[in-house]
Amino acid sequence: MGTDFISIRDFSKKDIEGLFKKAGAMEKVLKASRRAETLSNRVVATLFFEPSTRTRLSFQVAATRLGAKVLDFGLLEATSVAKGETFTDTIRMIDGYADVLIVRHPLEGSARLAAQLAIHPVINAGDGGNQHPSQTLIDLYTIKKAKGKIAGLNVCLLGDLKHSRTMRSLLYGLSLFGAEINLAAPKGLEMDEDVVEEARDKFGAKIRKTSEMNLRDADVVYVCRIQKERFVDQYEAAKLQKEFRIDMEHLGGVKDDMIILHPLPKIDELDPRIDHTKHALYFEQARNGIPVRMAILTSALGRG
Ligand code: NCD
Repeated sequence: MGTDFISIRDFSKKDIEGLFKKAGAMEKVLKASRRAETLSNRVVATLFFEPSTRTRLSFQVAATRLGAKVLDFGLLEATSVAKGETFTDTIRMIDGYADVLIVRHPLEGSARLAAQLAIHPVINAGDGGNQHPSQTLIDLYTIKKAKGKIAGLNVCLLGDLKHSRTMRSLLYGLSLFGAEINLAAPKGLEMDEDVVEEARDKFGAKIRKTSEMNLRDADVVYVCRIQKERFVDQYEAAKLQKEFRIDMEHLGGVKDDMIILHPLPKIDELDPRIDHTKHALYFEQARNGIPVRMAILTSALGRG
């Protein structure tokens, strides 16, 4: 009854290219202000057990633009979760109300569990520090649009690589497409070795690691915030947030057409003046969330 969307690992390069094509078509529909009624009479449920702005809203806008109705779970305090209802019961129940379930939860593996429980397709909107596949598609789509290719690009992933699901997913996606990757993290927040090994073993990915912030060779710099909600020690999180930050001087000597991406929200990790440089592409990246998520929804529901 449709396709689950749990991990970027579940998709081949060809699948992803197919989704990019669909997203491109969706962009044209949006530009022409035409309505796509592909999902009329469908109900799309959004269940967020963790905070979200872009992912929740852009999935909801994507669903609305496709003519679907949105069923939002709302704040947890207002639901039976506050009374102690289990995750499994909640999923089984919403599965009876909706045609597709978009789920974000702090526990790794929660989306896979939801997919096993639900008859309808489940889309992972972030499971703890593990995976965020729809964000990765947006990231790859944005890179491809800006640079015309992904293979051979020098991409620097910078920030809290230990706890960030966007980075884990993206490392896999970039490796699949043959980019050269530089992992730049503060000491102690490096990407888990098994994730790096997997990308090297499966794709022969060229991956280097550093704790320096050198952006000179990069075609793409992808930044994320320190994921403070996954720290035991909040003082340490605040300290690292201040230390590992891109200032205007880091942009001296970078490639003229280097682009900076960020899944957002950004906190202190980018000097706000960077927003006004030609390198900043993160708001466009967030906008690409709509057509890409329209493509994901139609394909999850087997509608084109
Ligand atoms: C990211 C997330 O939730 O993982 N946000 C998003 O979905 N755009 C990044 C983050 O919170 O740092």
